[in-house]
Amino acid sequence: MDSLSELRTLASLDRPHRALLRLRPDFCSLAACSAGPDSRFGLVSEDLPACRPYLSSRRIQVVGFHIFSGSQVLDAEGILQQIRGALDQSARAAKVLGFTPEIINLGGGFGIPYGPDDAEMDLVAVAGELRSLVEQAAPSKLMLELGRYLVAQAGWYLTTVIAQQTHQGRPAVVVDVGTHQRGDMCGLGLRRKGFPPVVLSGRSLTTSDTFTLTDVLGCLSLPSDVLAESSLLPPLSPGDVLAFPNAGAYGLTASPTLFHGHPIPAEVAFAGTITELIRDRQSARSLLEGQNPLRKIRTFIVPGL
Ligand SMILES: Cc1ncc(COP(=O)(O)O)c(C=O)c1O
Repeated sequence: MDSLSELRTLASLDRPHRALLRLRPDFCSLAACSAGPDSRFGLVSEDLPACRPYLSSRRIQVVGFHIFSGSQVLDAEGILQQIRGALDQSARAAKVLGFTPEIINLGGGFGIPYGPDDAEMDLVAVAGELRSLVEQAAPSKLMLELGRYLVAQAGWYLTTVIAQQTHQGRPAVVVDVGTHQRGDMCGLGLRRKGFPPVVLSGRSLTTSDTFTLTDVLGCLSLPSDVLAESSLLPPLSPGDVLAFPNAGAYGLTASPTLFHGHPIPAEVAFAGTITELIRDRQSARSLLEGQNPLRKIRTFIVPGL
């Protein structure tokens, strides 16, 4: 429950529910996308006394807390700082409310390397301390709800070169899609910091192919629609396919996909060498699906149309 208001709504429903109270972090985070004290999520300490009547009412059983303080933390100490902060805040909230939480959900936030300057997160260091925090928190159970760390690296975003261009004095290619389908690229500045795309070209490279710092431009009419800047790439021609890594989290589903009226792209699942089309490339007409044809208004504007 993110607010008192949500708690009241839950209490008014017919079915009984178990619920966690989401707490707004009162500590800072090292996350690239932080949801700290100035965020809009969760109950603040002043809200807690008013939650007491709902702790074990007929319709709601509050079983613990949830705190999510930020995403894409690569530094193990940064993750532990978030986890310790969340545990400490939960313990203080439990004291105010006078109950022992069954569950403390510490959110997500484990980061992944998006580019050559990022180091892999030290999972062993995190696991070592997590073990002792689990013991310390007992009998409360700790939960993590990881997103990016589990699925980002499982996804690739495939684009096709449609033209050659120049951009800021460098050679560039334009591809058939853009940042409207990879919303995460903008927020994380991936066009400058990301790994270069893998070139899936029909032809093999020869020793005479020289790699050049090349830009990859999306096909929107936005100057900022740039997927890669100064990426070391071989000569590219229309028809070549570029595969951008780390597209499995906050990619398509976190993007303004309908911008410019572009239909949703195809999705293909793969395991090893087995591939399966799980969503057809949508047609342009699909953008109008679900709209009702104009009847009354059309007659009103252009009588007899
Ligand atoms: C409430 C909540 N839990 C979990 C996650 C997953 O976070 P991450 O991908 O950083 O693991 C998010 C992401 O925004 C979130 O808002």
